[in-house]
Amino acid sequence: MPGFAEAMSRLGTETAFEVLARAKQLEAAGRDVIHLEIGEPDFDTPKNIVEAAKRALDEGYTHYGPSAGLPEFRALIAETVSRFRGVSYGPEHVVVTPGGKPILFYVMMAVLDPGDEALYPNPGFPIYESMIQYLGAKAVPLALRQENAFRLDLDELRDKVGPKTRLVILNSPQNPTGGILPREDVRAIAGILREHPDVWVLSDEIYSRLVFEGEHASIAAEEGMRERTVILDGFSKTYAMTGWRLGYGVMPVELAEWVARIETNCNSCTATFVQRAGMEALSGPQDAPGAFCEEFRERRDVIVEGLNALEGIDCLLPPGAFYVFPDVRGLGRPTREIARMLLEEHGVAALSGTAFGVLGDGHLRFSCANSVANIDRALGRIRDLVQRLRG
Ligand SMILES: Cc1ncc(COP(=O)(O)O)c(C=O)c1O
Repeated sequence: MPGFAEAMSRLGTETAFEVLARAKQLEAAGRDVIHLEIGEPDFDTPKNIVEAAKRALDEGYTHYGPSAGLPEFRALIAETVSRFRGVSYGPEHVVVTPGGKPILFYVMMAVLDPGDEALYPNPGFPIYESMIQYLGAKAVPLALRQENAFRLDLDELRDKVGPKTRLVILNSPQNPTGGILPREDVRAIAGILREHPDVWVLSDEIYSRLVFEGEHASIAAEEGMRERTVILDGFSKTYAMTGWRLGYGVMPVELAEWVARIETNCNSCTATFVQRAGMEALSGPQDAPGAFCEEFRERRDVIVEGLNALEGIDCLLPPGAFYVFPDVRGLGRPTREIARMLLEEHGVAALSGTAFGVLGDGHLRFSCANSVANIDRALGRIRDLVQRLRG
């Protein structure tokens, strides 16, 4: 067989999909597995959005559209983002993509050269590190620690941002920790970055509508930041639309033009009937996102209380997103081994914190995308494992 490009050796992955595949294998062999591994809401997409997609198909939205997105959709996104973040954007700032994920890759392709440094949260969404390294740039971790409520360490940011830094990635509410950046932190980060005018900011706000305590603060609203910030958001988490593949970036116009050109090269455009469904999501009734948030809050409370009742596990109450990220070092086993035993021997699929970077070691990530009844059952199984490990 012919060989592969050298860059492939630097491409990472998302372990969640591998664990899901293994869990499905076990299920196919007759085992009962409780799924707490995958980061997707277990709710159905709201009916009005599904109906809008069907209508769009009947109306003939079955052709190519502009690479940056349908003009009426870009305008609606600009208006929604402006209202929610308190910053003013127009349609020319918006690029619609098949899911929010392409925004990560496309923006990094547009701003990173080999040898540039990109700062990113660790533990964090594994695609950040993967894409930075794939592009030949240097991935510089910014540690998120439980002692600091998984907030960024501002001194560390100050130390690590320098002449080679080209990009800083922020993610709030955060995957996998559920931490959020309070407005005072966002303000302080902007203050630090104002000293470094050549640094772009990629603000991954895909969980912005899932905040249980406090408020969502976007760095784009801070003085001087709109001109160099990309807001990433989308429909997967907020409207339970993971399979539709619909997301967007909001950014300075010159960058938006490059990102749209990359879209022309990669996807041509995002499916047009899916964009019409996205318009219904933004302009239709907003009960569903609120109801999802309430449901996730209840589940979070149940799982955190259940985990903290177990000897050797210490779990913070995450203020956002739909994950909990307990410290399991007290169980005295390597983290990957605990995750493996939990799945293979106790039928609970969860992710080792190491799936989110080296600094995730010592933690497990449980997704709250399952019913309270199943979370309760999972807690019983986790208790069994803890009793075994602690003798
Ligand atoms: C932090 C973060 N950013 C971006 C994404 C991408 O989501 P999507 O491509 O489904 O919009 C995810 C999905 O898990 C995520 O957790």
